[in-house]
Amino acid sequence: MLRLGILVSGGGTNLQAIIDNIENGALSNTKITTVISNKEKAHALVRARQYNIDACCLSPKDYPDKESFDCALRDYFINKEVDLIVLAGYLVVLGERFVSAFPNKIINIHPSLIPSFCGAGYYGLRVHEAVLERGVKITGATVHFVDKGTDTGPIILQKAVEVLPTDTKEILQKRVMLEAEWVLLPKAIQLYGEGKIKVKDGKVYIS
Ligand code: GRF
Repeated sequence: MLRLGILVSGGGTNLQAIIDNIENGALSNTKITTVISNKEKAHALVRARQYNIDACCLSPKDYPDKESFDCALRDYFINKEVDLIVLAGYLVVLGERFVSAFPNKIINIHPSLIPSFCGAGYYGLRVHEAVLERGVKITGATVHFVDKGTDTGPIILQKAVEVLPTDTKEILQKRVMLEAEWVLLPKAIQLYGEGKIKVKDGKVYIS
C-alpha cells in the first residue's frame, strides 16, 4: 500500500482528482495518509475532511524561521511513515533540509510544459497569463520530482493542451486542469506505486 502525504495551499482540485481516482479504483493500492496545508482556510482541507482523511494546517508563520518549519514538516511526514509526498498546488518553497530528507520521493504538478513558464513567480493563473501573453499555441502540465530548485527536478510525465484564440487565463487554467493535471497526477502516483519510475543521471525512465 503506497502511503501518500499531500501538501496543498488552495482549492484542492488536484487533491480531489487523487481522491476520485482512489475511490473509483483507477488508482489502486494507494492511501492518502495525511493532507497538510499552510493555509488554515484552504478548501483542500475541507475536501480531505469530507472523506475523513487526516488533515491539518502547518504554517511557516507558526515557526521562528524557515529551517524550523522545514524540520517540523519533515518530522511530521516521517512520523506518518509516508512513502511519497505530493505537492498538489502547494505554494510554500520547501528548503534543502526538507527536500534532502526525501530524495526522489516528492513530486509536484506544474501547470505548464516545463521548462517553459516555470520557476520563481510562475504559479496559478500567472502561468496561464504568461502563456497567453507569449502567444504559444500549445501549453499543458508537467509532473516532476522536486529537488532543491524551483520546478527543476527530473520530469516524470507531461501532457499537451491546445491554446485557443478565445481563451482567457481562467478558461485556459480550467482546461489545463481538466485535460492534463487531473489526469497526470494520479497516473504518476500509480506508476510510482508500481515501481515503474526510475531516475538515472537526472532523467526519468518509465518501465
Ligand atoms: C494547479 O493549477 C496546479 O497546477 C498548481 O496550483 C494549482 C492548484 O490547484 N500547482 P488546486 O489547489 O489543485 O485546485
